Amino acid sequence: MKASRRDSFASRTARRYQTTQPMYASIRPLLFLLPPGAAHALAFAGLAPAEYVAPLRALLRAVMAPGDDARIASTVMGLRFRSPVGLAGGFDKDARRVRALAALGFGHLEVGTVTAREQAANPAPNMFRLPADRALVNRLGFPNEGAARVAARLRSAKSGVDVPVGVSIGKSRPVAVDDLEAVVADYTTSFDLVKDVADFVVVNVSSPNTAGLRAMQGRAHALALLSALATRGGGSCRLLVKMAPDLDDAQLEDLLSVVEEVGLTGVVATNTTISRSGLATDARQVEAIGPGGLSGPPLRARAVAVVGRVRARLGRKVVVVGVGGVERAEHAMALVRAGADLVQLYTGFVYEGPGAPARIARELARLVERERVASIADLVGVGG
Ligand SMILES: Cc1cc2nc3c(=O)[nH]c(=O)nc-3n(C[C@H](O)[C@H](O)[C@H](O)COP(=O)(O)O)c2cc1C
Repeated sequence: MKASRRDSFASRTARRYQTTQPMYASIRPLLFLLPPGAAHALAFAGLAPAEYVAPLRALLRAVMAPGDDARIASTVMGLRFRSPVGLAGGFDKDARRVRALAALGFGHLEVGTVTAREQAANPAPNMFRLPADRALVNRLGFPNEGAARVAARLRSAKSGVDVPVGVSIGKSRPVAVDDLEAVVADYTTSFDLVKDVADFVVVNVSSPNTAGLRAMQGRAHALALLSALATRGGGSCRLLVKMAPDLDDAQLEDLLSVVEEVGLTGVVATNTTISRSGLATDARQVEAIGPGGLSGPPLRARAVAVVGRVRARLGRKVVVVGVGGVERAEHAMALVRAGADLVQLYTGFVYEGPGAPARIARELARLVERERVASIADLVGVGG
């Protein structure tokens, strides 16, 4: 009796919430008055009650998260995903809000990027909004509390998280890319700390904000690093590599040949781009922002193209996670049709608000229905 009263309250509230989605649109201008870093901190403060108070989290889940829906559920890497829409790396770097973020309706979370050594952000300003493009530029450079503390926090929060959680690992800033042995040792330290608590591990070799990091995507470097980690994981760890959208065909082939050779679980495509082409934002403003990784809709077409190439090159042997410019179900579907088993978003979450993951999942279910297939898994790589 009590449960049914609560269910009906939750479903009434859910209906109301779905019709008041514009609420975030009216809050966003106020939030966007704050510098991006401060807005991020405020959002984290807003998620704190749900992170620490289980009944609040249950309410949040009942109101926000899509229920079980076979049309968008899938099994990937041997893990059950209620929705293919996950949170991309970098939003919750220190795994501080995993329970609350899961309750918002993400189908999985990728926390990190963490490094072996704790490190601060690059000097401010290091994050910028480009509202005309609904985009962001960041040059944060992996600020995080270090792999050991983040792994411990995730371990204690994990029982309250009902979706798969991956951990992204990167290179500590002071370790020179030229010293390959030291780089491998640095990643290995992080890997050993997170591998037992992570449902999957993503090796980030593609951030543009750590000097020289992208060189790790070259064949020799990638082979040394990824084979060392795969050996370390002993076949029991799901290991993926995250790649840049800026690789040319030969560089892409180099990296994908290593993925194949090492027998990696999969690829996350893509990280932010260093390109600034096709932006609506005034060129002088873009220039004034300076270096960093661009994310959001300007990245979308490139992400879809890269996902398509990865799938065409590696076939169904690997898992592909598509990331870049997802704001609506149509964008997620384009990545799936290009070959993505799962998708992620970061910038779309910032611009569309906390209802985005659940809304995209619900709309995706309707798109799957329209295609007259049983599940979204039937649409992976079908093109169109
Ligand atoms: C502020 C910011 C910080 C990011 N930090 C990370 C990070 O630490 N690790 C990572 O793998 N990707 C990071 N990313 C990249 C995202 O995970 C994602 O690959 C990229 O933003 C494209 O997706 P989007 O268009 O949905 O944002 C970051 C992106 C943004 C905007």
